[in-house]
Amino acid sequence: MAFFIALILSLFLFQTVSVAENSIGPFQSINDGTTIVSKDGVFEFGFFSLGNSKNRYVGIWYKKIPVQTVVWVANRCKPINDSSGSLTINSTGNLVLLHQNKSIVWSTSSSKQAKKPIVQLLDSGNLVLRDEEDRSSQAYLWQSFDYPSDTLLPEMEFGWDSRRGLNRKLSAWKKWDDPCPEDFSFGVEVEHDSYPEAYMRKGTATYYRSGPWNGIGVSGAPDLRANHAFDSHYFYVGNSVNYRYNLKNNSVTTIIVLNQTNRLFQHLLWMEGDQSWSVYASSPRDYCDKYGICGANGNCVISETAVCQCLEGFKPKSRVKWDLRDWSEGCIRENPLNCQDGHKVEDDFVKLDGIKMPDTRNRWFNDSMNLKECRIKCLNNCSCVAYSNRDIREEGKGCLIWFGDLMDIRQISESGQELYIRIPPLELGIANAAPKLGARIFIPLLGSLFGALLVCYYFCKKASKGNLVRTLALIIL
Ligand SMILES: *[C@@H]1O[C@H](CO)[C@@H](O)[C@H](O)[C@H]1NC(C)=O
Ligand SMILES: *[C@@H]1O[C@H](CO)[C@@H](O)[C@H](O)[C@H]1NC(C)=O
Ligand SMILES: *[C@@H]1O[C@H](CO)[C@@H](O)[C@H](O)[C@H]1NC(C)=O
Ligand SMILES: *[C@@H]1O[C@H](CO)[C@@H](O)[C@H](O)[C@H]1NC(C)=O
Ligand SMILES: *[C@@H]1O[C@H](CO)[C@@H](O)[C@H](O)[C@H]1NC(C)=O
Ligand SMILES: *[C@@H]1O[C@H](CO)[C@@H](O)[C@H](O)[C@H]1NC(C)=O
Ligand SMILES: *[C@@H]1O[C@H](CO)[C@@H](O)[C@H](O)[C@H]1NC(C)=O
Repeated sequence: MAFFIALILSLFLFQTVSVAENSIGPFQSINDGTTIVSKDGVFEFGFFSLGNSKNRYVGIWYKKIPVQTVVWVANRCKPINDSSGSLTINSTGNLVLLHQNKSIVWSTSSSKQAKKPIVQLLDSGNLVLRDEEDRSSQAYLWQSFDYPSDTLLPEMEFGWDSRRGLNRKLSAWKKWDDPCPEDFSFGVEVEHDSYPEAYMRKGTATYYRSGPWNGIGVSGAPDLRANHAFDSHYFYVGNSVNYRYNLKNNSVTTIIVLNQTNRLFQHLLWMEGDQSWSVYASSPRDYCDKYGICGANGNCVISETAVCQCLEGFKPKSRVKWDLRDWSEGCIRENPLNCQDGHKVEDDFVKLDGIKMPDTRNRWFNDSMNLKECRIKCLNNCSCVAYSNRDIREEGKGCLIWFGDLMDIRQISESGQELYIRIPPLELGIANAAPKLGARIFIPLLGSLFGALLVCYYFCKKASKGNLVRTLALIIL
């Protein structure tokens, strides 16, 4: 009898202990009040509330940090209104969140059924569903890292995975105590066939963009480049690009969070000394980072009092509005491109350095072309307005060309990427300008001077009033 009690007790203990460890196995469940902790005690997974609310959410937070820092939420918009929630692996091998033992509030979405499904919280903060028999990390049937909330953890991938049809974007919490997304998101937009550039949106409007990947970083967010604390990786999966950052030193605790309240994408660093998060970097950084602030073909220069300037070869569409600092209409060409006139003379390009590359929604690229071939490619298409190297490593490689208006350019100090903007041929520009000015001013002026001298010569000669005036007139003539 005692043996049986001991056996039952030990079974019971074994079960609770394993639950309190880092996994949920088949036929186990965790109720509100129980949590699982990752192996090294970094993260915790379970039920939590925010502020004074009675609403219960299921999510992952830092266990080792005293300030509640939730990095992922399962039932973001469907809180449970009491403590009757429970998590269990159902008979077809998905993790389900149940309310009062019956209604499914949330579940994982694995289409494959594991023989022995197990849910585990890893020290990276990733909650994974896998087959207990299959230890390979590639074989996750489902992972929370594929469904980010508002936080990007180190090792988490951000971007469009075309192979699996997954778009891992961030969406901010509505408020600090409501993890349901409102309308503020940051991610790669699949409809633009996922050029390595991420867009931040407020509703339907573009709010900020990262700038295109250039081999080292993105020109709009130089703060995300690798440094001594972390590595930045951009990598291709299929034909799409993804971003990830890895810590170089695990003693650092850092997260990237998208916040609806302050409308920022912030890189936060945990300060052991202060026991608080400190902001390492934010985007957008300033007024010039706001998407398209200077309109089409404008350049935002934060150090100027009138921050917006037209690109070389362009003028404000409406001079009056521009002077009143309403930049919204942007800039138009001063002189039309030669290409449009069907002339044989080639257009020219002006080089612009130290800028955030224009929006790549209207672009074409080729990785194996060099800059010279890129220039020719651009010249051969009248819709091409600018070109640049795609990758700035090793003196530059690849070709990126833009069509239509150049949007959202700003001056930045560190870029290393040069943009060549198409303008009408310089000689033609001058030749075009000369007759205009000449016809209006110089020709009549020269004509009247010539006439005056002729008249003078005649009269001066006739009057024989001294040789000096005559000689002078002769010399001038
Ligand atoms: C909680 O939600 C359930 C079902 O969604 C509902 O039946 C119940 O009345 C709610 N309880 C409270 C206290 O709001
Ligand atoms: C288990 O959960 C998944 C996801 O909600 C669902 O599709 C499936 O039908 C559930 N299986 C059973 C037996 O309820
Ligand atoms: C859920 O079911 C278990 C047994 O299946 C039972 O002990 C528990 O009371 C139930 N909880 C609720 C809230 O219905
Ligand atoms: C967003 O930022 C504000 C102000 O910096 C802060 O009070 C709030 O907690 C943040 N919200 C979230 C969801 O982190
Ligand atoms: C990691 O950082 C800690 C504290 O700053 C330092 O003591 C340690 O040497 C670092 N480790 C590595 C591998 O750089
Ligand atoms: C890219 O450029 C290379 C070299 O000029 C060329 O061989 C290749 O066909 C181009 N690819 C496309 C898709 O245009
Ligand atoms: C120029 O580029 C545009 C956009 O890619 C394309 O639609 C058009 O066919 C190109 N024209 C020529 C002449 O290559």
